[in-house]
Amino acid sequence: MDIIVRESYAEMSRYAAEVIAGYIKAKPNCVLGLATGSTPIGTYQELVRMHKEGLDFSNVKTFNLDEYYGVGIDLNKPFDLDQSYARFMYENLFKHINIKPENVHVPDGLTKEPEKYCRWYEDEIVKAGGIDLQVLGIGGDGHWAFNEPGSSLGSRTRLQALTPQTLDDNYESFYKKAGIAREDMPHFALTMGIGTILEAKNIIMLANGKKKADVVAKSIEGPITSQITASAIQLHSGGVTVVLDRDAASS
Ligand code: GLP
Repeated sequence: MDIIVRESYAEMSRYAAEVIAGYIKAKPNCVLGLATGSTPIGTYQELVRMHKEGLDFSNVKTFNLDEYYGVGIDLNKPFDLDQSYARFMYENLFKHINIKPENVHVPDGLTKEPEKYCRWYEDEIVKAGGIDLQVLGIGGDGHWAFNEPGSSLGSRTRLQALTPQTLDDNYESFYKKAGIAREDMPHFALTMGIGTILEAKNIIMLANGKKKADVVAKSIEGPITSQITASAIQLHSGGVTVVLDRDAASS
C-alpha cells in the first residue's frame, strides 16, 4: 500500500488527479469507479483543469459507488435543491469534460426493483471489463460508499439503510443547505458492496481533515473489521494508494 501525505487539501487533490490522469493516459478506454462527498471535489476540479489542457475522456467509462434511494437527477431544479449523487457528479465533473453520457453510470435511485437493478449494475461493471481504478473517500465512521458498520466485507451492490451518524454527517454537508429537514432526507441508499469494490484492479482512497484522522489510521493499520468497512483496504491484492492531507495523516 502506498501512503502519500501532502501538506494541504489542494496538493492532495492535485496528486490524486495526477494518478487518475495517469490511468487515462495509459489506457484511454479505462474504467473508473467514482465517489461522491466533499473529499473528491478538489480532485474533480483538477481533472477538469487537465481536460482543458487536453486530457481526453471520450473513451473513459465510469461507475459511481452509490446513490440515495428514492432520489433521481432533475436538471430542471437548481443544483442546491437536487441532492442526487448523479447531479453532484454532473455538476462537479461530467458536464465539464468530454465523457459520453452512455459511458457514465450512477446507480438509479428511482428503481422500483432494487435487487434486480443492483444485479444488473454489477453485470454492467463486468461487461465493461471491471473497474481499473476505484476512487474512494471514507465516511466519518470508516465506511466506504454506503457500506455502514456491520456490512459484510463480501457484500455486493444492494439497498442499504443509513446509520444515524451518516445521516447527520451528510445532512450537515449537503441537505441542510438545501433547507431540507433531517427527517425528510433519504434514509436508504443503493451502494456497491465491499466485495464489489475489492474487485477493482486498483484503489485510490482520499481523506482530508482532522476529523478523518482516527478512522484513516484504524482503516489502514487497525484490525480488519466489518465495523470499519474501509479496513477492507488491507485485503486488496492490487495497487492501493492512500492520499491524505497532513491533518488526515495525524493519528
Ligand atoms: C458518503 C458517501 C461516501 C463518502 C462519504 C464521506 O457517505 N457515500 O462515498 O466517502 O460520504 O463524505 P465526505 O467526503 O463529504 O466526508
